[in-house]
Amino acid sequence: MQEKDQLTEILSPDVIKARVQELGKEISRDYKGRPLVLIGILKGAFIFLADLCRALDVNTEIDFVRLYSYGSGMESEGKVSITKDIELDISGKDVIVVEDIVDTGYTLEYLTEVLKLHKPASVKICCLIDKKERRKVDVQVDYVGFDVQKGFLVGYGLDYNEQYRHLQGIHNLVPGYEPEGYWPSDR
Ligand code: IMP
Ligand code: MG
Repeated sequence: MQEKDQLTEILSPDVIKARVQELGKEISRDYKGRPLVLIGILKGAFIFLADLCRALDVNTEIDFVRLYSYGSGMESEGKVSITKDIELDISGKDVIVVEDIVDTGYTLEYLTEVLKLHKPASVKICCLIDKKERRKVDVQVDYVGFDVQKGFLVGYGLDYNEQYRHLQGIHNLVPGYEPEGYWPSDR
């Protein structure tokens, strides 16, 4: 018998929507009259960035990076590399990195160092979810949607083995047991 993944909604679509609007207002206040570059980290941040940019009242340019973190399905080992770099020229510009979730901090520590080589005027970080107590390296997150203590989360862009990104709310996942010889296509 196959055990199914267990999903429990912890943040509803309405709660997320309201918080993203608040973040948009806060960022718009802070960057009033200053053009901004939003850099989303693929793939997890694609839905958050799409909603956040429409909650802003400042001129924005949008770009994406794609990063690869070595590790198992649920944990980063701290080695990160870029598989898709930015395409915009960010020198002299104010940048906000938009991330879905900050866990150990390795991803953002690496990315902010790489972005600084392009000589932006400033680099700040906005994440939807901060799992602060799991941090291994110190990164300053300037705008946080929600603090979440524990658990592995999926939905609203976040995945587990590429599944569940499309869910509208954010859910806590307890993965089911997959027996030997089991293939995802059997699901
Ligand atoms: P960090 O480098 O450990 O901070 O990990 C950040 C990346 O790991 C995020 O961009 C996510 O892609 C992924 N990640 C960390 N925690 C979760 C989670 O609970 N659900 C889905 N992805 C996660
Ligand atoms: Mg990510």
